[in-house]
Amino acid sequence: MGQEIDLLVNYPKTKRNVEERGATKTEEDRAIARQFGKDFFDGDRRHGYGGFKYMERFWTPVVPTFQNYYNLTASSSILDVGAAKGFMLYDFKRLIPNIQVAGCDVSDYAIQHAKEEVKPFLKVANATHLPYDDNSFDLVISINTVHNLEKEDLARALQEIERVSRGRSFITVDAYHNDKEKELMYHWNLTAKTIMHVNEWISFFKEVGYTGDYYWFIP
Ligand SMILES: C[S@@+](CC[C@H](N)C(=O)[O-])C[C@H]1O[C@@H](n2cnc3c(N)ncnc32)[C@H](O)[C@@H]1O
Repeated sequence: MGQEIDLLVNYPKTKRNVEERGATKTEEDRAIARQFGKDFFDGDRRHGYGGFKYMERFWTPVVPTFQNYYNLTASSSILDVGAAKGFMLYDFKRLIPNIQVAGCDVSDYAIQHAKEEVKPFLKVANATHLPYDDNSFDLVISINTVHNLEKEDLARALQEIERVSRGRSFITVDAYHNDKEKELMYHWNLTAKTIMHVNEWISFFKEVGYTGDYYWFIP
């Protein structure tokens, strides 16, 4: 079984007022966001990021934590499931120039508008069907992505991560420890279809055979 470990400890914390953001959201906003198209990445704030651009301050301080924890070197290979425009992978390549990177995302729009330096390594694919051979990567990472699936597909996505990984993986998912966090999470949530208590997630990982590391996204 993997470890619960916060490898995103250096990711900048959001300053947004989560309750306020939740209050202005409708089911229609969620439906638009869940298409993961232009509206989600580069449209109105109600439907997602409100402009998804590369900013050094996000992943640059985070990737060295992964490098150290998983002993990544120029001969390592990594996959990002839910890679969007490839910003995290770009920062991995800046840190370890010869590392082999790959990424996939369900969003055709995100891949079309990906950072040019990593675009050749990205594919459009759903996490439920990863277009890679068994045991292809030293490390598979998936940040705030698999919770966008209903439970059955989510189980499949976790099994896909297991299949393409040579043993190491790390995911983050929407979760809560108590009622207060649960309430905030539901205010915050725009796209997730599966949100669970941390203990439910851990049981779920065991049930579906996910053996990688994990941490929580808690607003
Ligand atoms: C939080 S973002 C990931 C950010 C990314 N790692 C980066 O470097 O910027 C989550 C991504 O998951 C993608 N996504 C949502 N559902 C998905 C699915 N079923 N399969 C693959 N990707 C999915 C979304 O399009 C979105 O780009």
